[in-house]
Amino acid sequence: MTLPNRSKIEAKGVSVFYGDNQAIRDVSLNIDQDRVTAFIGPSGCGKSTFLRTLNRMNDTIAGARVEGEIRLDGDDIYASGMDVVELRARVGMVFQKPNPFPKSIYENVAYGARIHGLARSREALDAVVEQALTRAGLWNEVKDRLKDSGTALSGGQQQRLCIARAIAVDPEVILMDEPCSALDPIATARIEELIHELRGRYAIAIVTHNMQQAARVSQVTAFFHMGQLVEHGDTAQLFTSPREERTKDYITGRYG
Ligand SMILES: Nc1ncnc2c1ncn2[C@@H]1O[C@H](COP(=O)(O)OP(=O)(O)O)[C@@H](O)[C@H]1O
Ligand SMILES: [Mg+2]
Repeated sequence: MTLPNRSKIEAKGVSVFYGDNQAIRDVSLNIDQDRVTAFIGPSGCGKSTFLRTLNRMNDTIAGARVEGEIRLDGDDIYASGMDVVELRARVGMVFQKPNPFPKSIYENVAYGARIHGLARSREALDAVVEQALTRAGLWNEVKDRLKDSGTALSGGQQQRLCIARAIAVDPEVILMDEPCSALDPIATARIEELIHELRGRYAIAIVTHNMQQAARVSQVTAFFHMGQLVEHGDTAQLFTSPREERTKDYITGRYG
């Protein structure tokens, strides 16, 4: 049985400029609810830039300008009435380098939930923290040391803590920008396993420079080159019979 392809995010004709430099050129791409989308392509091709348009993180970069249209469940996220703080809770982000706050494990996860008013009592907050840590596959490792600093965890645990922090504010989409590039192979495998477990509950887009990882974790792959979306589609198809010459060159290692 094949899953219906429900689009969670629809990007149409998106261009991004840093001052005079155009980093993304007229990209149209949907992010599915049920299928993980991987962004691949050589360094500097615009993967992170495009990912950041999906929750308006480029707004925080001076001189960055976004054109085109991005809809989340049909709503234009660049509309003037859009609450960007709320948007970034709905579309959470996990970065390359794990970046826990210098606070306790508990506080790292509770912080956003409290700010967004997701728990009315201490018991409710405890439950949010436990659920987020459980979904991030970290609960059993930290349940007896919730007061320890988040920064004292291993790199892989820190990254799962950052995923728990994103999950705690009840997101609909999780964006990951090379979430394993600072991790060892075992911690990487744990995150990849987690992506499988989270699929379907959250729409997921992941940037990776590792093509094997894209093949393992995603069902849809989007290949970017010099700011353009060269091709995208079913992951297995893209890696075995790419339509475009540039894709073929990239996946066969002719440039990187
Ligand atoms: N904050 C920024 N300010 C100015 N230019 C940027 C910024 N971030 C990225 N760029 C430029 O945009 C292009 C795409 O970069 P990026 O999105 O980081 O690519 P990737 O993630 O694929 O490596 C590059 O030319 C890069 O130099
Ligand atoms: Mg990048």
